[in-house]
This record gives sequence, C-alpha cells and structure tokens, in this order.
Amino acid sequence: MKKNHLLTCLLIGLAVTACSKPKIFTPGEPWPDNNGVHINAHGGGMLLHEGVYYWYGEHKVEGPEGNQAQVGFRCYSSTDLHSWTDRGVVLSVMPEGSGSEIEKGAILERPKVVFNKLTGKFVMWFHLEPKGMGYRGARTAVATSDAPDGQFSFISSVRPNAGQWPANYPDELKTDGATDNGSVYSGGSLPDSPDSLKIVARDFAGGQMARDMTIFVDDDGKAYHIYASEENSTLQIALLSDDFLSHTGVYYRFFAGRFMEAPAMFKHDGMYYLIMSGCTGWEPNAGRSAVAPAVTGPWTELENPFRGDESEVSLRSQSTFVLPLPGRQPQFIYMGDRWTPENPIDGRYIWLPIRFEGRQPVIEWMDSWSIIPGL
Ligand code: GAL
Repeated sequence: MKKNHLLTCLLIGLAVTACSKPKIFTPGEPWPDNNGVHINAHGGGMLLHEGVYYWYGEHKVEGPEGNQAQVGFRCYSSTDLHSWTDRGVVLSVMPEGSGSEIEKGAILERPKVVFNKLTGKFVMWFHLEPKGMGYRGARTAVATSDAPDGQFSFISSVRPNAGQWPANYPDELKTDGATDNGSVYSGGSLPDSPDSLKIVARDFAGGQMARDMTIFVDDDGKAYHIYASEENSTLQIALLSDDFLSHTGVYYRFFAGRFMEAPAMFKHDGMYYLIMSGCTGWEPNAGRSAVAPAVTGPWTELENPFRGDESEVSLRSQSTFVLPLPGRQPQFIYMGDRWTPENPIDGRYIWLPIRFEGRQPVIEWMDSWSIIPGL
C-alpha cells in the first residue's frame, strides 16, 4: 500500500513536472524545428485550427537571391507554440519560364491563412510581385486548400477594388482618371500629401496597389484585407466576400501619408488594434500602433509600442502578426521578423508578450520568457 502510494506520487510528480515545465521562448536565437533545422517561415502568420497552431511563412534560401521566392511558403504545426513540426512547402513556386504569376524568382511575401466556415476551405492571401518588376506590381494573391497543411492551389492575383472609391473618400477628390505626376515612390515621405497627388484616382480603374498585408477575421465571420497602398503611403482596409476569395469593393483608407507597413491586427476588450512599422525596407524603424472601435475605423494612432534601448528600431524587428491567446498569459504574442537580407534564410523571429498600459499596447525586450502554463 505504502509502496503503491509512493509510486503514484512519483508518477503524479513526473506528470506535473512534465506538464508544467515552462517552454522558454528566446527571441532572436535560432529556433530549431523537429528536425533540428532553424524554422523557415518569415513574414509569417498563424492559424489555430482544431487545437493545432499552423505557422505559415516565406521559405527563404541562402544569399541575396533568397529575397525573391525560390521555393514558396512553408508551414509548421504545434500544439504548444514552442515545438514546431515541419509540414513542408504548402504553396510552391512554378518553374522558371512557366509564365506563371508565381514562377520562381517572383516575390511572394507575408502569407496569411484563414479558415472559411461556409466553404470549409483554407484561404491564403499574400503579397505578390510578378517576376522582374521589382516592387512595382503591388498585387495581392489568393490560394486555397482543403487541408491546413496544403497543398494550396494558386487561384489569381489582383490589384483590389478596381472601379470603386473608398467609403471614406471625399467627394471632391473623386475624379476618375486623375493622375499624379507619374513619379515612382520608394517609401519615405511623399513630396506632397497623397490626397493632392490623387493616387487613389490614378489607380481607380486598374485597382489599388497592395503590398505588405494581413487578413483579420472578425467575430461576426467577416474577413478584412489590410494592406499598404497608394505607393505605401496609406493603409487600406477592404472587406472580403463571404467565401473570402475576392474583394467586395467596400474599402476604407487610413493614416494617409504615414507610410505604414507590416500591419498586424488584433481585438482586445472590444477594441481593434494595429501594430505596424514605418517604411524603410528591410531596415527596422520605430513601430506604430493604433486603436479603433471597429475594423473599419475611425482609427486613432497611438505611440510606438516598443520600449527600451532599441525602441526606435522596434527591438530590431518588424511586425508580421499578433497571436491572441484567450484566457492565458500573455493574452497576445507579438510576432516580428529580424530580417537578414544578405542571407535571408538566417532571419530570426522576435516573439514577445504584449501588455497594455491603458489602451496603449506595449512590447518590451526579454532575453527569454514563457507562457504561464496551466491557465
Ligand atoms: C519591407 C516589407 C517586407 C519586404 C521588404 C522589401 O518594408 O515589410 O515585407 O517587402 O520591405 O524591401
């Protein structure tokens, strides 16, 4: 009896130790997958489906050519957000010379996958730059799959909302066909305000530019595409169709002239939040944040959410996603990329807890941290 009791205690003790052993996140360090290989899912996004987390991101290769898509998007799965199993490439580039929009050497960035309850499909949206155009294409593309770990089939790409004015666009600016002076803007401040340059009107017929992006599904099942538009100067937020496969023509524009990139949206205490970056390519810059009572605004810009010595460079990271952990601590995880454009495969992941000071989201550096187990 005594012996049995001892054995039971030992087993319970082992189980408790095993279950409650904190999983330590070490931002910026190599993060090995189940094969001991550094996770290759940059500019990523997360889907929680039937208790499993799926992490989708850009598969990068060694050397500068890794800044163009040589392979496609990769997926990893996990139940604890710490140990990740490689599920392989879930959207592959097409062979060079195939003429496909997603042929090898095109730019495929920031994949985000959502599940559509009406169709049972997994829908992936991403930023697409056709091969040889640099970043001038500014297109967004959609692919679908019957399973979360692929294979995803590429459907099409688009410059969204052709022939539609933003819902919050002033009538006096609605001059179809108006053009700016034809300049190409690479980022930084526009020489004039985007509204006076009439970039929305310039792109009215052909569709709005769409680069850095995320997808957000609201509690009512509606999905929104949030993307850097108008030469990156302005963020647009567009309602997707019920099957999530196309744009409805209902869209809004925010932060005109603020050059917001890398948007990540989340909902907290009934309010909507955005974490974003400024616009300096692969170089990090001071983060941005904003709050709104609805996805469609009005949005109020808050402060740089990053704190500490490296706050002006977002702790050497750029946002890609905010992962909610309802009922747990932390309630939200900031997911960022520490880019290494000279050797993109070595890019690191900066995951940190988000806390709130009033309505201001705050992100501080930690060498290591863990999700509080058992909550
Ligand atoms: C960043 C953007 C990345 C990538 C890069 C290229 O600003 O967030 O996704 O497009 O520029 O320079």
